[in-house]
Amino acid sequence: MALERTLSIMKPGAIRNRLTGTILQRFEQAGLVLVGSRVVHLTKEQAEGFYEEHRGKPFFESLVKFMTSDTILIEVFEAEDAIASYRKVIGNTDPDIAAPGTIRADFAKSKQENVVHGSDSPASAAREIAYFFNDDEIFSPVKS
Ligand code: RTP
Ligand code: MG
Repeated sequence: MALERTLSIMKPGAIRNRLTGTILQRFEQAGLVLVGSRVVHLTKEQAEGFYEEHRGKPFFESLVKFMTSDTILIEVFEAEDAIASYRKVIGNTDPDIAAPGTIRADFAKSKQENVVHGSDSPASAAREIAYFFNDDEIFSPVKS
């Protein structure tokens, strides 16, 4: 399995509720290494572009409203199998279905207000990372 990168978002509510440290700790414990990070307050246009694949779905407008409602923390993580590892730590989209001990099971308010986003494939990770970061804003740690 090759070294992968994945795009992470701590969605509105995570910063306000002082959850970023707790969530980051879970990712680091799963072996994910932080290689990029920024606080952002998305514009409507940025949120719509990011969730372009969901345009036209019944939850799209409400999702955009939620994602622009407060500041978010956008991160890039790197690891072997980073995309699947990250999604295992966050759990199912719906906190009522998410496995116990996952971030969404523990902290999500609803299927929409579900605390975190993670890329779902190498193609989406590449698109999403480039959506928010230039190459010179991402740094892999020095190999020990
Ligand atoms: P994400 O993209 O945020 O990592 O979440 P995901 O892959 O688990 O879920 P996805 O199907 O890509 O949906 C994107 C986000 O839209 C909101 N959503 N609401 N009310 C609903 O039925 C519904 N379905 C999706 C969630 O915030 C979800 O994470
Ligand atoms: Mg998704």
